[in-house]
Amino acid sequence: MNTKLFQKDFITTQDWSVEDLNTMLDVAYRLKADFATGVPHDHILRAKTLYMLFFEESTRTRNSFETGMTQLGGHAVYLTPKATQIGHGENAKDTGIVLSSYGHGIAIRDCRTNIGQKYLYEMAKWADAPIFSMQDDVDHPCQAMADLMTLTELFGRNLRGAKFVISWTYAPKYVRPLSVPQSLIMLMPRFGMDVTLAYPEGYQLMPHIMDIARKNAEETGVKFEVVHDMDAAFEGADFLYPKSWGPIMVTEEEAEVEAMAAQHKDWRVTTERMKLAKKHAVYMHCMPIDRGHEADDEVIDGPQSIIYKQAENRLHVQKALMALTMAGRA
Ligand code: CP
Repeated sequence: MNTKLFQKDFITTQDWSVEDLNTMLDVAYRLKADFATGVPHDHILRAKTLYMLFFEESTRTRNSFETGMTQLGGHAVYLTPKATQIGHGENAKDTGIVLSSYGHGIAIRDCRTNIGQKYLYEMAKWADAPIFSMQDDVDHPCQAMADLMTLTELFGRNLRGAKFVISWTYAPKYVRPLSVPQSLIMLMPRFGMDVTLAYPEGYQLMPHIMDIARKNAEETGVKFEVVHDMDAAFEGADFLYPKSWGPIMVTEEEAEVEAMAAQHKDWRVTTERMKLAKKHAVYMHCMPIDRGHEADDEVIDGPQSIIYKQAENRLHVQKALMALTMAGRA
């Protein structure tokens, strides 16, 4: 356990060692057990403040961070560019220095392509408080940690040899960022899983993230493969994480995005397709799911689905993150 995480930023899991990430899991389990058994822990961040700056909308992330702060005894402030001077062009440096002189942590969601993660690192350079990613254009580290926590609860801490599949799925509504698949291909190999990434032509991920994923797999001695066939990916899988993302490396132009996606409506999770995976395989999704397009309701609501456990664990990993980085040591 690493007890020296006070004031450490959490912008990507890559900036945290496996020991650091295991510490986050250990604290998350403890806080979850306390929550389930009515043991109060509102002394941990009493009178501390988290600023939550959202450039995009959220259901899970906003409410799990805000609720988490309440349970730890602190207060969370919901901010948007429009509700602040960011909307009038105030930069990350000025915003970060000022907010961190009032409070104890700044969490940011900024998925603007080629801007978001850079904005977080720029604020981290100046702010005198830890910066947390609530999702950016590159990574969604809190989601990936909640996913990892969920798998360890169901299958144990030793996940070596398990086949983890992240697959593109069809969805027509809007261009989802690359951050979830990218966060998963980076994190899961570090915890011993063999990772298969599946997508149709045009839906490739950022090259530098692919390099990190390959390096992580090599260092841990696990497999990392890319396939362009959903059925091949599902064969023999233990953990299935099929979700939509945009063809961002090719285009973000609405008509082109729609036309590209429309060619791959068969990239959908059906009950039949689920049978290609192992019997005990679980169906995962970060939510929101585009029901009726990404997967059949029978799968989403079926016995193999663990999507609500993943969403629930957002609260517990984020409470662990905030306790470790914002409480300070006596
Ligand atoms: N999974 C996730 O980040 O959900 P929200 O967009 O609702 O926060």
